[in-house]
Amino acid sequence: MNQKLRRAWLLILLTAGVSLPSAAPDLTARWVARAPNGDGTFRETVFVFNQRGATLTGSVINPTSEQPFVEGTVDGDTFTFASAPASNPRRTVYRGAIKGDELTITLVRPGRPDQTLTARRGPDSAGRLPERIPPPARHPVPDNGLARTPPMGWNSWNRFRGNFDDATVRAIADAMVANGMRDAGYVYVNIDDTWEAGRDASGRILTNRKFPDMKALADYVHSKGLKLGIYSSPGPLTCAGYEGSYGHEVDDARTYAEWGIDYLKYDWCGAARLYADSDMPAVYQKMGDALRATGRPIVYSLCQYGRHDVWTWGADVGGNLWRTTGDIADNWESMSRIGFSQDEHGPFAKPGHWNDPDMLEIGNGGMTDTEYRTHMSLWSLLSAPLLAGNDLRSVSPEILGILTNREVIAIDQDPLGRQARRVSADGEIEIWTKPLAGGATAVGVFNRRAAAAEVTIRCGDLQLCGGTVRDLWAHADAGALGPTRTVSVPSHGVVLFKVGKLG
Ligand code: GLA
Repeated sequence: MNQKLRRAWLLILLTAGVSLPSAAPDLTARWVARAPNGDGTFRETVFVFNQRGATLTGSVINPTSEQPFVEGTVDGDTFTFASAPASNPRRTVYRGAIKGDELTITLVRPGRPDQTLTARRGPDSAGRLPERIPPPARHPVPDNGLARTPPMGWNSWNRFRGNFDDATVRAIADAMVANGMRDAGYVYVNIDDTWEAGRDASGRILTNRKFPDMKALADYVHSKGLKLGIYSSPGPLTCAGYEGSYGHEVDDARTYAEWGIDYLKYDWCGAARLYADSDMPAVYQKMGDALRATGRPIVYSLCQYGRHDVWTWGADVGGNLWRTTGDIADNWESMSRIGFSQDEHGPFAKPGHWNDPDMLEIGNGGMTDTEYRTHMSLWSLLSAPLLAGNDLRSVSPEILGILTNREVIAIDQDPLGRQARRVSADGEIEIWTKPLAGGATAVGVFNRRAAAAEVTIRCGDLQLCGGTVRDLWAHADAGALGPTRTVSVPSHGVVLFKVGKLG
């Protein structure tokens, strides 16, 4: 075709609105979105894209997972993909556009506000895992002698998530002294996720700007007669995407000991990208050994959501407590589902080694005081750690009364260290009993129904006939347990008795 003819054709095509193939940008790359956490650190999401014409394949990498995406298509400068097929009601749809060197990607999720991220081309290493360190050979970690009764204290996560700092922790410690929480037994002040920064050249873990001096903070907390707890993960990253202890277990345990840390919660999260659930015992043993080697008494709390029957091996890896479930939320459905599903783990609890159905939500506002009394009663019967999760700087007298009910705390802290078992379930009426040191028994009568109930206790069924009854919420003696006793239990409520030693 000669020059003239070609020009003429071009003119015809353009006037007809036919676009010529343009040099559309190729999306194939590892794109990194960095969202500031507000403490000098960033949360990274990596988008791995492979573009072939209009088809986009790849994955989304978060701190704890790499998920391939589906339905990826490119249309000029815009693209879209989804976390799951349309049949999944919880899928996230991602809508993006490329402009110059930048992508804007909007996450559209059911029931949540849209979120827009900006991503830039990252290096080939972006989102890639470090080399997998083989888990060590198993051996029993000797008991550290701590937590002879379930640990009690406070933890930042349920109320504050990442929005807390050194000043908050100091103020919580002050409040625990002033409001009687410390004297009721709540001694651990535990910093959860989001205190970490990266590491220095020698591999030492750094704190972010919310926690300028961890040793000074520990000194302060200790000066109040309290103890300080901290948080990490066996993975490269924690659940919130902060620096984990992977490959630095010994360094980190030493650093904690130098700072004066008394408690470590060690949260699986980021380790899931490198290890199978069956590796959990060996991976947890590694930190159990490292903590022990410091020579400092540090309570060791395993957090891996009850996977891999942790109650059967948690004590062998040096664990003082282990989570038995996923995360609690501040509502009746979550709390009661978790609390009433703990029966089967009962036999594994013993002094020094406890099942942990997660931290308390008492006082966070999502349940009624009646429901919070059920929460407190059930956790105490279960010999669960009592880690308050509310803002103790401003706590109502009612909530403080629930958290510091010494008669109920005494059930939790009973030195025999046995966990309650469910002795009957009649529809949504459940009775749980816990044997106590010295021969008494704690009896919890729970009403999970939406309406109040009159419940008849038969002393023969409980083998507690004639025992003296103490009502632990009314703080009143209530005679001896006759053949039957009928109690009124409010909806979602509890009647908690201590029945004295028989004859
Ligand atoms: C997990 C744990 C929580 C909390 C967060 C922090 O979800 O189960 O208790 O520690 O991580 O990121």
